[in-house]
Amino acid sequence: MKNLMNITDLTVEEIDELIAVAEDIIANPEKYQDACRHKLLATLFFEPSTRTRLSFESAMHRLGGAVVGFSEAGSSSSAKGESLSDTVQTVGCYADIIAMRHPKEGAPVVAARRAGVPIINAGDGAHNHPTQTLTDLLTIWRAKKRLNNLTIGLCGDLKFGRTVHSLVGAMARYSGIKFVFIAPEELKFPRYIIEDELESRGIPYKEVTTMEEAMPELDILYMTRVQKERFFNEADYIRLKDTYILTPDKLIPAKKDLAIMHPLPRVNEISVAVDDDPRAMYFPQAKNGMFIRMALILKMLEVTV
Ligand code: NCD
Repeated sequence: MKNLMNITDLTVEEIDELIAVAEDIIANPEKYQDACRHKLLATLFFEPSTRTRLSFESAMHRLGGAVVGFSEAGSSSSAKGESLSDTVQTVGCYADIIAMRHPKEGAPVVAARRAGVPIINAGDGAHNHPTQTLTDLLTIWRAKKRLNNLTIGLCGDLKFGRTVHSLVGAMARYSGIKFVFIAPEELKFPRYIIEDELESRGIPYKEVTTMEEAMPELDILYMTRVQKERFFNEADYIRLKDTYILTPDKLIPAKKDLAIMHPLPRVNEISVAVDDDPRAMYFPQAKNGMFIRMALILKMLEVTV
């Protein structure tokens, strides 16, 4: 596989393999500690990040490889007016693989044309975030021991949240999946993804506006942050930002084996009082991100262990 732009660039079988490798890495980390010796990962982050960038970098270090990169556009030559294409073509001369995040939808596709080395989309605007989805799939797998027959509630900013767009594209390929979209009218899940991924395949979904309506039937509750940086108007952000706040009392009607997920960062949408609930999976989810990225780097560099 040359590049990872979208989660659907991977087949279901390839995802199963990545999960199996991640499980093996978790069980036998020492087996992998020199797998990427003398290999170099570049992380080019034109947008803020904690988990994605640091889990990619930790992943490469834990494989015995090395890392270069930048964490804000202002510290790269893009601040001098260099095109993305030229930046990436240059970095492709130094590194063996590139993970990049950019505020413009489609930027990694443009970058991949000139890079000369594999490119991983680490988030492009409100569009896609395939490695977060791999993280989410490993988390669901570890919590439920299956990726089929699940009712998945997605809650919050479903319009601008790229993680939920990629997650729906991935989960729509498994059997027995039902989606419940929980969002205010202004932040509803994009119609084009519903048509392409769900209606075309007859996959059941419903759209509701309150968490209460959905809670009792959910196997997974995937909370998201209202994406402040994608709003045109601050007043709209302020009005919508606290629409959903998950608190322990809201979980009373929930299933005993619900998995509560969140790609993080959270702002207000999950109360810290939920953190000690055994169903809270969001910090294990962040940890899983490192293991699945280790598996992905091995696959893309065609390293066998
Ligand atoms: C997400 C992102 O960047 O899209 N964060 C992440 O990668 N874990 C979610 C978000 O920023 O809300």
